[in-house]
Amino acid sequence: MEAAMASPSTSETTTPSSSSSASDGRGKQGLGWIEWMRGWISIVWEFLFQRISASHLQCPLPLPPLDNVTVIVTGSTSGIGLQIARQLAESGAHVVMAVRNLKAAHELIHKWQDERSGVGPPLDVEVMEVDLLSLDSVVKFAKAWNARGAPLHVLINNAGIFSIGEPQRISKDGYEEHLQVNHLAPALLSILLFPSLIRGSPSRIVNTNSIMHFVGFVDTEDMNMVSGKKKYTSLSGYSNSKLAQVMFNSVLQKRMPAEAGISVTCVSPGIVHTNVARDLPRIIQTAYHLIPHFIFSALEGSRSTLFAATDPQVPEYCGVLKADEWPVCAYISHDCRPMNPSEESHNLETSQKVWEKTLEMIGLPSDALEKVLEGDEVQCRYGSDGD
Ligand SMILES: NC(=O)c1ccc[n+]([C@@H]2O[C@H](COP(=O)([O-])OP(=O)(O)OC[C@H]3O[C@@H](n4cnc5c(N)ncnc54)[C@H](OP(=O)(O)O)[C@@H]3O)[C@@H](O)[C@H]2O)c1
Repeated sequence: MEAAMASPSTSETTTPSSSSSASDGRGKQGLGWIEWMRGWISIVWEFLFQRISASHLQCPLPLPPLDNVTVIVTGSTSGIGLQIARQLAESGAHVVMAVRNLKAAHELIHKWQDERSGVGPPLDVEVMEVDLLSLDSVVKFAKAWNARGAPLHVLINNAGIFSIGEPQRISKDGYEEHLQVNHLAPALLSILLFPSLIRGSPSRIVNTNSIMHFVGFVDTEDMNMVSGKKKYTSLSGYSNSKLAQVMFNSVLQKRMPAEAGISVTCVSPGIVHTNVARDLPRIIQTAYHLIPHFIFSALEGSRSTLFAATDPQVPEYCGVLKADEWPVCAYISHDCRPMNPSEESHNLETSQKVWEKTLEMIGLPSDALEKVLEGDEVQCRYGSDGD
C-alpha cells in the first residue's frame, strides 16, 4: 500500500477558539459561518473529486494475509460493513459479524461459503448479536466476548444510521438515536472490549466516521438536542454524532499510554452507495442511483476502513501523532491518506467535555479507561439484566 502516511498539514489547523466561532460569551454556541462554509466545501469536494483522488487505489484493496487475526465488525449485514467483513475473511481473518439481524448474517455467510467452495478453505466467520440501540445489548456482547479470554486484534465500529428526513427519535435508553448508534454505543463497546484488545495488542480500534462531521457541532449541555435551543434535523443529528465520535476518540488516544499498543483511527469511507439512503424519498433515491460516476460502490467505500484496519503504517502513524501531541486522533480519508479532521474537532475543551459526558451517558465511571488499563473490572450502569 503506497499511501503516504505524512502528518496532516498544520496549515489546515486552527486554534480552539477560531475567529469564526459563533460565541456570545457563554461559550461557543455553534459553528461560525466560515467554519460552516468550509465544512460544506469539504463535503462537496469529497463528493465531486473522490473518484479522482482515489484513482491510485485498486479495487478491491489488496490486503495482507490475516491468518491469526481476529476482527469484530459491527453492522456487517449491509453496505460497507458487509464488504469489510467478507474481504477480511477472504484474507484469512477470523471475523465476528456483530449484528442485530442474525438471520441476514447467517444467510450471507452461507452465500459466501457456497461461492467459495472449491476456491479455497472455508471462511472463518461467526455471528454475534448486538443492537446498538440498546446499551444493555452492547454490555452483554462485550461480556460474552471478553469471557472467551481470547485476543481481539481489530474492532471496527462500522454500524451507523442516517435517518434522513425522519423526525427526532429517542432510544429506550433515552438518547437521540443517531447519537446512540453512531457514537455512544461504539464508545461503550470500545472501552468494554479493552481487556480483549490489550490481549491482542498491538491492536486497533477503527471507527467508520464521515466527512459530514465537518458540519457537526456538539453542544455538550444538550447532546440529545432536546432543549430546543437549536432546531433538530436528521442532518444535524448525524453530523453531530460523527463529530462527537472524533472528539471522544481523540481524548481516548490521548489518555491511553503508548505501551497499551492500541491505535485509534476514524475513517471517512467517501460518499457511498449503500442502504444508508433507504429512508430517502423515492425521487431522491432515484437520483442517488443515477450518479454512480461520483458515488463509490460499497466495495470502493470499504477501502479506507480496511486500510486503517490492516495497513502496517497506520499504528506507526498513530504513534507519531501521539508523540507530537497532535490534538485529534488519526483520521484516514476515503482515498486512504491521512487527513486533518474538522476545525471544531480541534476544540480540546469541548473534546474533554464530550469525553466526560459520554462516559456519564454510557454508564461508566470517569476513571473507566484507567481501570480497564490496570486490568480492573469496570462496573457499567447497563447490562445487569439477566446476569
Ligand atoms: N454510505 C455513505 O455514503 C457513508 C458516508 C460516510 C459514512 N458512512 C458510514 O458508514 C457506516 C456504514 O454505513 P453504510 O453506508 O454501509 O450503511 P448501511 O448499508 O445502512 O449499513 C449500516 C449497517 O449498520 C447496521 N445497524 C444500524 N443500526 C444498528 C443497530 N441499532 N444495531 C446494530 N447494527 C445496526 C445495519 O444493520 P441492519 O441491516 O440490521 O439495519 C447495517 O448492517 C456508517 O457508520 C455510516 O455512517 C456511510
